[in-house]
Amino acid sequence: MFSVTCVAPVNIALIKYSTHILGGKRNEDLILPINDSVSMTLRTDELCAETTITASESFYSNKMWLNGEEVPFEENTRILRCLNEVHRLAICAGSQKIPLSWKIHVKSFNNFPTAAGLASSAAGYACLVYSLACLYGIPVNDQLTTVARQGSGSACRSLYGGFVQWHRGNLDSGCDSVAKQVVSSKFWPNMHLIILVVNDQRKNTGSTLGMQRSVQTSQLIQHRADKVVPERVNQLKTAIHKHDFDTFAKITMKDSNQFHAIAMDTYPPCVYMNETSHSIVSFVHDFNELMGSSLIAYTFDAGPNACLYVLEENIPKLIYAINKAFPNDEESADYLRGIPLSNLDIQSKTKDNIFREKMELLKIQQKNTLKYIIHTKVGEGPRLLRANAR
Ligand code: DP6
Repeated sequence: MFSVTCVAPVNIALIKYSTHILGGKRNEDLILPINDSVSMTLRTDELCAETTITASESFYSNKMWLNGEEVPFEENTRILRCLNEVHRLAICAGSQKIPLSWKIHVKSFNNFPTAAGLASSAAGYACLVYSLACLYGIPVNDQLTTVARQGSGSACRSLYGGFVQWHRGNLDSGCDSVAKQVVSSKFWPNMHLIILVVNDQRKNTGSTLGMQRSVQTSQLIQHRADKVVPERVNQLKTAIHKHDFDTFAKITMKDSNQFHAIAMDTYPPCVYMNETSHSIVSFVHDFNELMGSSLIAYTFDAGPNACLYVLEENIPKLIYAINKAFPNDEESADYLRGIPLSNLDIQSKTKDNIFREKMELLKIQQKNTLKYIIHTKVGEGPRLLRANAR
């Protein structure tokens, strides 16, 4: 019996990949996108998937448990595809670590609530594929990212740390649709992320409804894929290489806006952001204007929660401003989760009269529109925690 336990990170796109819901895939089964995307990988301390895979000669069938509940394995084409592809890579690499005929049991957990609406599939599939690679003794390389991609598109970017580009590729086989690291997490270590988890009373019908609309796609999406994204990817990579936060922020916010404009241009529209999301957008623009430059950048995925990119040195200011504009009854550590923030840091801002006066100009929202806040930062790719042979 062999077993491995691994963790894999979440990644948040700066330049978005559009799923088939918005008509963004050129091949549905292989998950081939119509444009490149760029993301930042988050450290695993706050958000990650942890997966244990055991392979044994005595197992009768493949099985999988997700957060403690058994989920169908043999019926899940995405999981089967990942397993078969890893087997294929093991054969190509001549790896004979364990017999491919042995059945496997997969147990996977997310260390964050699925209800938070954060992209759990990217971390989950990256962890599955990485753990399989460890089990069968194959390296993390371009080809392994093509396997993770076939589990969930954005999962291919979670196989690397730092900033990562998923190249759309041109081949019908998809073997050139790979993720590559742009720079490691050490290149811009003070890049942090504040996630505002919003209180959302509405049931999220967006993606379910969206599926039914997959054939009807936006007329804007092709222009985005052909013209806008290629330019933005180059500009963003240059901004990252130069540590140019101002340009980084503008591109990120514009791309989030365009992604959601295309969701709205899908007919009938896919609505992912809610009223609170829009008030966060206004808050960020107001804050940046008051500060005289872009100190924060928002981005929204297929849900209402906001991800705010911010440099470490500007976090006290941002948290002060959030507490001001989005008042909340909750004051416990449960409200501000993740990397701890010294109260002294925030209090020092209350003593800065010029800053405080500026913050008085922020529009104050209704109480308790935010559920909680997660403070995290750029991080590394998946890693092996344990390996056992019995
Ligand atoms: C909005 O990777 O979850 O987060 O490939 O169908 O599994 P599938 O979709 P998924 O889509 C995520 C899309 C996004 C933008 C992004 O991460 O690029």
